[in-house]
Amino acid sequence: KAGAREERARPATLVEIAQGIAACRDCPIADCGTRAVAGEGATGAALMIVGEQPGDREDVAARPFVGPAGQLLDEHLQAAGIDRSAAYVTNAVKHFKFAWKGKHRVHQSPTAKEIDTCRWWLESERALVRPRLVLALGTSAARGLLGRTVSVTRERGRAIPLDDGTELWVTVHPSYLLRLDGAARDAQAALFAADLAAVRERLR
Ligand code: URA
Repeated sequence: KAGAREERARPATLVEIAQGIAACRDCPIADCGTRAVAGEGATGAALMIVGEQPGDREDVAARPFVGPAGQLLDEHLQAAGIDRSAAYVTNAVKHFKFAWKGKHRVHQSPTAKEIDTCRWWLESERALVRPRLVLALGTSAARGLLGRTVSVTRERGRAIPLDDGTELWVTVHPSYLLRLDGAARDAQAALFAADLAAVRERLR
């Protein structure tokens, strides 16, 4: 299927991408019955922020990063002096993958294959937005952008060139911070803040 995609014309607008992902059935996640959540922001944004996939709240709101992880992200962006409304915010995978646990829809990580399948859309977004810098939140986002497994610990804190030379910076996903407590959380939050501060400097 990925091969068939390569032969298709790239979408010409972000609206075409939103329509395309809504209709996309290239991986089994769409069978979860969730809606595709399109990226938010404008072409020409200097910064593109990439998460993993929409969560429960994002699926309901049809907007990326509006749930608990999004709120934590917003706090950190604000503290770093990064204007989210000027950025293009999207996800490596466009549908929410979950399993029912009682009444709750519980997040399931996308497989590498699912991320790689959705990469065509992410690359189409990047081609239209043409950001100067891309920030990957977590390993799924990094895989979506690089097409390989990435160790955030090893590769954070420096620019990684994408195939067209655009700078990629990788850091942890804010939901990772939400899963930690006490001193461990403080330490990781400080590293996350330092990563965002470095990105802010590069955007000056
Ligand atoms: N987590 C993500 O990776 N993306 C969202 O949009 C929300 C939560």
